[in-house]
Amino acid sequence: MIDEMRKRILAEARGILPWMIEIRRDLHQHPELGLEEYRTADRIQALLGEMGIEYEAGLGGTGVLGLIRGPNDGKVVALRADMDALPLEDKKEVAYKSKVPGKMHACGHDVHTTMLLGTARLLMQHKASLPGIVKLLFQPAEETVGGARLLVEAGALDNPKVDAIFGLHVDPALDVGRVGLHFGQRNASSDDLKVIVHGTSAHGAYPWEGVDAIVAAAQVVTALQTIVSRQVDAREAAVITIGVIQGGTQGNIVADRVELVGTVRCLTQETRRSVLRQIRERAEGVALGMGARAEVVIEPSYDPVVNDDGLLGIVRSNAQELLGEGNVVVFPRPNMGVEDFGFYLSETRGAYYSLGVRNEARGIVHQVHHGLFDVDESAMAYGVALQIMNAMKVLEPC
Ligand code: NI
Repeated sequence: MIDEMRKRILAEARGILPWMIEIRRDLHQHPELGLEEYRTADRIQALLGEMGIEYEAGLGGTGVLGLIRGPNDGKVVALRADMDALPLEDKKEVAYKSKVPGKMHACGHDVHTTMLLGTARLLMQHKASLPGIVKLLFQPAEETVGGARLLVEAGALDNPKVDAIFGLHVDPALDVGRVGLHFGQRNASSDDLKVIVHGTSAHGAYPWEGVDAIVAAAQVVTALQTIVSRQVDAREAAVITIGVIQGGTQGNIVADRVELVGTVRCLTQETRRSVLRQIRERAEGVALGMGARAEVVIEPSYDPVVNDDGLLGIVRSNAQELLGEGNVVVFPRPNMGVEDFGFYLSETRGAYYSLGVRNEARGIVHQVHHGLFDVDESAMAYGVALQIMNAMKVLEPC
């Protein structure tokens, strides 16, 4: 029964493409920023309701959680889509361009949401042969506060407890009909860093009467750069960037305060813990050695995305079956950019992968977060078929 379904699934996903395109274009014309996805959430609820899917709304603010139960209890697979848009002007000249000035679905989250609705629709058609439970996570605020964390905190992975989670992101660097995979590390963690160096002001002609916060801060910046070069295992990766340095008022006054602002990226939680500890130690120790004092403020941002290789292997074999081996690309290196899917992967096993949406002949070549970004919508059929195959594979009794 299940094997037969797998064979039919791409044809079925293509069959609902016109329905999906209509939903996607509606969402695309009405983009909403993180935690403001009210209209989007309303549409999702209305569509889930029409399909007869039980759901819970208001998770983490604007999140929606749908639940599809097969006839018998079994494992639980979560499928996730993010819902938010970006504060960007839509520069495309198409009938479905954004109707909201200064807001645009420039990261394809409208496409992700639509594909999850399409996945839900087909799963409902096969509910009688669903060997377990599928949770649909419509998540807010991927681009801003990390809405994934809000859903985790709201218990979205509990009751029933999720055994595995799958997510995907459109990728305009990959042609439509292709899929990109990273085994293991996929995206870095991110932490926001601020170091305030406190000194004592004095006349610029008599610096010995004060403590120069600028000279101390300069030493702190240099010392922070040696953490990656000297303390991080050379086979791991980390980035410490100081992007802002501000302090002082005038050329002939010794500054009493300098603020350094930066970002820290790591590929594993272990490296992350070690790097953050050393940043604190170095900044405080070096400033102290210069007679100054450093105040270190670290705001944790996103967790790293580390794929479960077993589950990613499932995605790979499904993608090879669906698209042909030559259309499944394995990327050898992780990305130092972030994705809040890591918050789910800190709680449960999962796999996150890239779906090709590029179509050069149609001029669909612009990267995400670009005012001309668009997708080849036929990719949605592949995304839906793959997510269903991934879920089924995990739910199938061994
Ligand atoms: Ni995105």
